[in-house]
Amino acid sequence: MTQVLGISGSPVRNSNTDRAVKAVLDATGLETEFIKLSELHLEPCRACLGCKNNNQCVVRDDGQALAEKFRNAKAFVLGAFTPYSSLDGRSKAFMERMYCLRHQTGLNRGKIGAAVITTAVPPGAPNLPPAADIASQQVAFWMMEEGMENLGALVVLGNVPCLKCGHGDDCEMSGVKMMHGPAAEVADVPINQFENDDELVAEAKALGQRMRDAVLATPQTPLPVKA
Ligand SMILES: Cc1cc2nc3c(=O)[nH]c(=O)nc-3n(C[C@H](O)[C@H](O)[C@H](O)COP(=O)(O)O)c2cc1C
Repeated sequence: MTQVLGISGSPVRNSNTDRAVKAVLDATGLETEFIKLSELHLEPCRACLGCKNNNQCVVRDDGQALAEKFRNAKAFVLGAFTPYSSLDGRSKAFMERMYCLRHQTGLNRGKIGAAVITTAVPPGAPNLPPAADIASQQVAFWMMEEGMENLGALVVLGNVPCLKCGHGDDCEMSGVKMMHGPAAEVADVPINQFENDDELVAEAKALGQRMRDAVLATPQTPLPVKA
């Protein structure tokens, strides 16, 4: 059975977010499963409270099976990116949908979790919202409200999409200039790859090892579903 679930909200194929989540999973040395939310049909919570008696979501999409997997996993790594300086929509929808496990018995309580947050904001960039802090806090507050054990967030430096759209140097709304200054050109900006940052790779490994220790120290038995 999957002990650690890796969940990525990034829709980009084999993205920095995906690879960083997988690095943490690998470092746990436990049985893991990686799920890419963009490959699922996952609506946000409808706030219908159809789950209030039996902890089963009534929305007929992939969220039902996902909630079951999440419930049975001892730990998870949620990877998200930061469009408009907050958590991406798929990761947020995922968090909302796990609400079904909350009622009465608190099935999310004690779950061990960590986040991977990918931002395009370069360190020390002035006048830009602190996207990584905002998204990390969103995940941290969700975990707090659900009574989970938060092992923290790994912040990954990704790439502004305008670097590869083909208009990065002449677009009036170019994120290249917004993130790197008005004189910046596409050719001057390095493409960030998670694997090339030795410090970050070491942090991911350390996070995975802490997750392994936490899982082995607190064996959990899923609580039964209420009739
Ligand atoms: C619609 C959109 C809006 C974005 N806005 C921001 C932003 O406000 N702040 C930021 O740090 N990154 C922003 N980004 C950039 C992503 O955070 C960046 O592409 C990230 O590296 C994606 O990670 P990935 O390689 O895992 O896909 C935005 C990306 C998209 C697609």
